[in-house]
Amino acid sequence: MAARRIGVITAGGDCPGLNAVIRAVVKKAVNDFGAEAVGFLDGFRGLVLDHHTPLTYESVSSIIGVGGTILGSSNRDNPFKFYYDDDQKEPVDASQKALDTYERHGLSALICIGGDGTLSMSHEFCKKGLKIVGVPKTIDNDVQGTDQTFGFDSAVATACDALDKIRTTAASHHRAMVVELMGRTAGWLTLFAGIATGGDIILIPEMPFSAEGVCGFVKRRSEKGRRYSILCVAEGAHESGKDQVLLEGKGKRTGMVRLGGIGQAVAEMVQENTGVEARTTVLGHIQRGGSPTTFDRILATRYGAHAIQLAMDGVSGVTVCLKGGAIDQFPLDKVANNPRRVSPDSEFVRVARSTGAYLGE
Ligand code: F6P
Repeated sequence: MAARRIGVITAGGDCPGLNAVIRAVVKKAVNDFGAEAVGFLDGFRGLVLDHHTPLTYESVSSIIGVGGTILGSSNRDNPFKFYYDDDQKEPVDASQKALDTYERHGLSALICIGGDGTLSMSHEFCKKGLKIVGVPKTIDNDVQGTDQTFGFDSAVATACDALDKIRTTAASHHRAMVVELMGRTAGWLTLFAGIATGGDIILIPEMPFSAEGVCGFVKRRSEKGRRYSILCVAEGAHESGKDQVLLEGKGKRTGMVRLGGIGQAVAEMVQENTGVEARTTVLGHIQRGGSPTTFDRILATRYGAHAIQLAMDGVSGVTVCLKGGAIDQFPLDKVANNPRRVSPDSEFVRVARSTGAYLGE
């Protein structure tokens, strides 16, 4: 009997741990099932255009600690609304091309490693008959059904390192230091980094803030003799009754806005209203880079191993997930178009407040 063949893609914004998942999928496929693996390049684009590379035991050796993805990724290619190039005016449905690629390679299943956008597209392909197992990645930690995506812990570690460094300058110069973090519409990254570094003010998209509240808190700190403040601001945070601050409107190919600029807006607001000198640092893509933490290497390896096990067992239409410390599975239809956000009543918010942080009234 011919060896079974598994396809692998990494799609969406990259994060630390993608290579660790690829490695686990391929090594377990070879070791436990005598199967073969093929990687498609640059996310779903590679599946549509049949750009691929063999994934062998050798090609995935020594990549567990390497950031990024050996397969490349894309967060602007949707096979259902596909652009072959930037000059194309309107998108076309190229999903049949992706289905043809799957058939041509004689795949038993496709492992789709991605965030909620990728997993939503995966769900659409399952409806068209592909066998897919998802693996939840993203620094935003906003995928339904899992306690944690891989990549998140590494991004929190990077943000904490930056925030700890910012603190020394804040203290030396008696300033309000505003740090803008990523996370799209979810505040997980900012909340966790804020809690872990003792941030004074933590602003997340799920909890709109008021200028009076934020400036009043900074002023009261000054009056109490606390000569500096650290403000952790999520890129999606916004003032109550106001829109999010954008770097760019909806992209033609992504269909998504680019968030950014709220950190500077908050710094100006604080300086004008409190007289405390303020500065802004935007952490940006540094949060997506570098080696995965030990936690993420292990989580990514467990996710990859479970994904290939499910695929070999004939399971489809699910993503692997972490629930209460155990690896499990969760239906893709419940993940699709439904980002997981921080609940303002959550224990994380309560613990941040009771250890002194301001998150709004
Ligand atoms: O989803 C990951 C993420 O880094 C978000 O936190 C951020 O809003 C977005 O991707 C940035 O995307 P890009 O790399 O396209 O600028």
